[in-house]
Amino acid sequence: RSMVTRAVSGLVGLVTGGASGLGKATVERLVRNGCRVVMFDLPKSDGEQVAKSLDPDNCVFCPGDVTSVEDVSAALDVAKSKFGKLDVTVNCAGIGIAVRTYNMHKKKVHPLDQFERVIDVNVCGTFNVIRLAAQMMSKNELGDRQEKGVIINTASVAAYEGQVGQAAYSASKGAIVGMTLPIARDLAMCSIRVMTIAPGLFETPLLGSLPEKVKNELGKQAPFPQRLGDPDEYAQLVQSIIENQMLNGEVIRLDAAIRMQP
Ligand SMILES: NC(=O)c1ccc[n+]([C@@H]2O[C@H](COP(=O)([O-])OP(=O)(O)OC[C@H]3O[C@@H](n4cnc5c(N)ncnc54)[C@H](O)[C@@H]3O)[C@@H](O)[C@H]2O)c1
Repeated sequence: RSMVTRAVSGLVGLVTGGASGLGKATVERLVRNGCRVVMFDLPKSDGEQVAKSLDPDNCVFCPGDVTSVEDVSAALDVAKSKFGKLDVTVNCAGIGIAVRTYNMHKKKVHPLDQFERVIDVNVCGTFNVIRLAAQMMSKNELGDRQEKGVIINTASVAAYEGQVGQAAYSASKGAIVGMTLPIARDLAMCSIRVMTIAPGLFETPLLGSLPEKVKNELGKQAPFPQRLGDPDEYAQLVQSIIENQMLNGEVIRLDAAIRMQP
């Protein structure tokens, strides 16, 4: 094994939002490549089924909410008791809404609790997972690369080009972009790297349920390639970030050069 490229094989990962979409593709790729993974997602998610479809020795589903200290701690305890350690944390859990700040036609103001909910799940939830995972990863031995762990978060191109109705979603994703560097700086003393991926449009259940024609239209908004991203292309970048140690404290757009219109 070279000092430069770290094979993911043998690593233990925690993937939030792992039962669907980008998180699920990440779980599948990591398991396929020899990792053992704790899949964390809401109790109402497909987590149990997805875990069953994979090797049960290498993938365990932990139901819970990323905003809960108890739920996330319980998932980390499972990583410890079942797999003995934690090397990689991927934050894919997230929610979105489409509500105008003030809709003049409908005379409807954006409910504050809906704004707060998106910030709570996407920002506080991501941070809750990061802080507790970092504590656990800091107990790892320094390996041959003198590294204890890697944390990867999921923002969105909406952090930069939020569309109509995306005030809450864009604010939450902008916060994830904004905290990437300071957390990387905080965790440098623990030899843990922190990166964020800002995806464009990917074909997850969210978009997958749309008619083929609409998906094609959405895909064509990207200059090249003019299609929706495959969730495994997101997972592939997760793997590259784990493997390439010079990546730290940065946000990578994964978007086929799309710039969202208003
Ligand atoms: N699909 C895209 O085109 C796209 C683009 C940009 C950013 N993203 C971001 O990528 C991430 C994954 O998106 P996706 O398309 O795979 O969505 P998805 O809805 O398919 O998956 C998200 C998963 O997160 C889980 N989740 C939601 N709230 C949770 C909570 N409080 N605790 C634990 N789990 C929770 C859901 O149950 C779901 O399984 C999200 O953060 C999303 O904002 C997606």
